[in-house]
Amino acid sequence: MARLAVEIAGIKLKNPVMNASGTFNARDAEGIMDIKRLGAYIPKSITLHERTGNPVPRICETPAGMLNSIGLENKGLGSFLETDLPYLAKTTVPVIVSVAGETIDEFAETVAGLGENKLALKIVKAIEINISCPNINRGGAQFGSQPDMASLVTAEVRLVSKFPLIVKLTPNTGVFVEAAKAVEEAGADAISLINTIFGMAIDIETKRPKIGRGYGGLSGPAIRPIAVKMVYDVARAVDIPVIGIGGIMEAGDAIEFLLAGATGVQVGTANFVDPTIMARIIDGISAYLEAGGYEDVREIIGKVEM
Ligand code: DHB
Repeated sequence: MARLAVEIAGIKLKNPVMNASGTFNARDAEGIMDIKRLGAYIPKSITLHERTGNPVPRICETPAGMLNSIGLENKGLGSFLETDLPYLAKTTVPVIVSVAGETIDEFAETVAGLGENKLALKIVKAIEINISCPNINRGGAQFGSQPDMASLVTAEVRLVSKFPLIVKLTPNTGVFVEAAKAVEEAGADAISLINTIFGMAIDIETKRPKIGRGYGGLSGPAIRPIAVKMVYDVARAVDIPVIGIGGIMEAGDAIEFLLAGATGVQVGTANFVDPTIMARIIDGISAYLEAGGYEDVREIIGKVEM
């Protein structure tokens, strides 16, 4: 069997496959998909305080993808520490906590709060800073699309964080390579990309948008070639590991990202189609390596032949 282990942001992952935050819930998956198979598990982004989220409908299907606008619904840091962490402590899978916020202070306070919790210090292996949510008015894609802001958030969170930092970038900007370099400079240990692409769909009978907020973030195979190119560009521009995300539906798609230079991958939309898909993607990467005579997954990272 080829070796699948990789190291990202100082965390040892037994394979490169993770879920994308907000697309797969460990509790819901109990008895369906063993999360211990994953390289790491990433719960839905948390914010300092509870958020009720955006108006419905929050999801709609589009050609080869879907739009979402959840609006970061979550119960807040306190509830995460009290309820979710003890549940996650029962598993051995590395946990990466996705943190979102509307202000730099909110990001910093949330990450600092995690660092003050004994259980979090034990089981949280890294933080993913979500400065790329397309569905809030402040602090999401607005931060990630400006290299200066992306750098500032990363630097401020770095100051208070007891955990390695992964910064999740947005594709909704022309300056994503600059943003990647800026967060590396500001102390990020890894970069994940891409988050969803702004999109809109309109019901022509009612003349109303199909998403309650009017627009949302597009994900799924429709965005994969865009994501692969962005990951390729960023992986060549920075020295820290890159996690590739965007429309991975099967093992071959994950392998594309690895060849483009990603050290790890996250699977999002595919989990809605088949919540067991990540296990098969892991097996499929193994089979590809085996068939190609590779001993270690790291042999193919960045090895696209141009
Ligand atoms: C939401 C959507 C995203 O694409 C994201 O990265 C974070 C949050 C949301 O609407 O909740």
